[in-house]
Amino acid sequence: MDSGLENIVAAETILSDVDGQNGRLVIRGWPVETLAASMAFEDAAHLLWDGFFEGLPDVPELGARIGAAREEVLALVAELPAGLDVVSFLRAGWALLPDDESLEAAIRLAAAGPVLTAAAVRRGRGQAPIAPDKDISQSADFLRMLTGKVPDPAEARALDAYLVTVCDHGLNASTFASRVVASTRAGLVSAAVAGISALKGPLHGGAPGPVLDMLDAIGTPQNAETWIDGALARGERLMGFGHRVYRVRDPRADALKVAVARLPDTSGRIAFAEHIEGAVLGRLARKYPQRRLETNVEFYTALLLEALGLPREAFTSVFACGRVLGWTAHAREQIAEGRLVRPQSVYRGPVPEAA
Ligand code: ACO
Repeated sequence: MDSGLENIVAAETILSDVDGQNGRLVIRGWPVETLAASMAFEDAAHLLWDGFFEGLPDVPELGARIGAAREEVLALVAELPAGLDVVSFLRAGWALLPDDESLEAAIRLAAAGPVLTAAAVRRGRGQAPIAPDKDISQSADFLRMLTGKVPDPAEARALDAYLVTVCDHGLNASTFASRVVASTRAGLVSAAVAGISALKGPLHGGAPGPVLDMLDAIGTPQNAETWIDGALARGERLMGFGHRVYRVRDPRADALKVAVARLPDTSGRIAFAEHIEGAVLGRLARKYPQRRLETNVEFYTALLLEALGLPREAFTSVFACGRVLGWTAHAREQIAEGRLVRPQSVYRGPVPEAA
């Protein structure tokens, strides 16, 4: 029995390969660093969905259909109740979409991500949603729907780098959840709702907000070592470090570090964070000499999304806006596999006589 299923192979995939020993992530043949430096969200959608949907159009046409779908899904916002946090708002909005296994379902899910996330952030601030603009890119429109201003191209480019970097990552917990649900033939919307439900936990996609909380709590470089030692002595986990699969640095952390470095560091936040990163890595190496714990994707995600003006309570939703491409592609791959996922458990409870 392997309670974390670490050593269980539960799928064959042509989508992505996570090489934890060598710190390499390959997505459909491409190293993640190359994709992050060269692709927009729409390119990544095409890359992941290619071969899984009949009649998948080329990238410009796919982008136009995602843009049109953004406008179509805006009506969902009015149907959602007050009082939901951002990730619950996105999950609830997605759950209202028509649930089937079609390309249209995947396009609507992709399109609804930014529309719902931006609307949730604005609702939290007491502001009305901003209607999408189908004629600009998904990333530019995402930032525009948050602020009302068309962003600087460098900002849209940085958001693209982020969304592409996180679009797929092997059989992680949320992707596995999506594949299990897809195997029941429940539909792509159900698979994505399962995915986001798994993603929102702090051990998976819920870490970047707490990364910033940690940086705020540390406050100054001088306070770093005392704060980190205190947290480790209390048995706390330092957010943005460690990974189930990577035994070396998470390659996505470096891909995002490159993207972050292109944004202005006017407040010195990025330099401060790099100082803290070094201090944490030193302390973790001392505490766990046998188990190499390195920076993971969430650390630089936090810095990048903060630099783009996204509030921390939206970070998990923004992650879901990228990862939904992987969830839908994996769901289609699982459906093509044609087998219900149904593992075994070992019963350790009382026998009827004892009960
Ligand atoms: N801070 C402090 N200690 C840690 C950390 C950390 N970030 N990560 C692992 N450890 C400790 C564990 O507590 C464990 O100690 P123990 O043997 O005394 O109990 C030891 O290091 C070994 O742990 P692992 O087996 O490597 O950890 P596991 O594979 O169970 O967990 C996880 C991986 C959940 C990501 C963990 O490293 C963690 O909690 N990190 C912080 C949260 C985080 O950054 N999550 C985002 C992950 S990336 C993603 O999902 C997109």
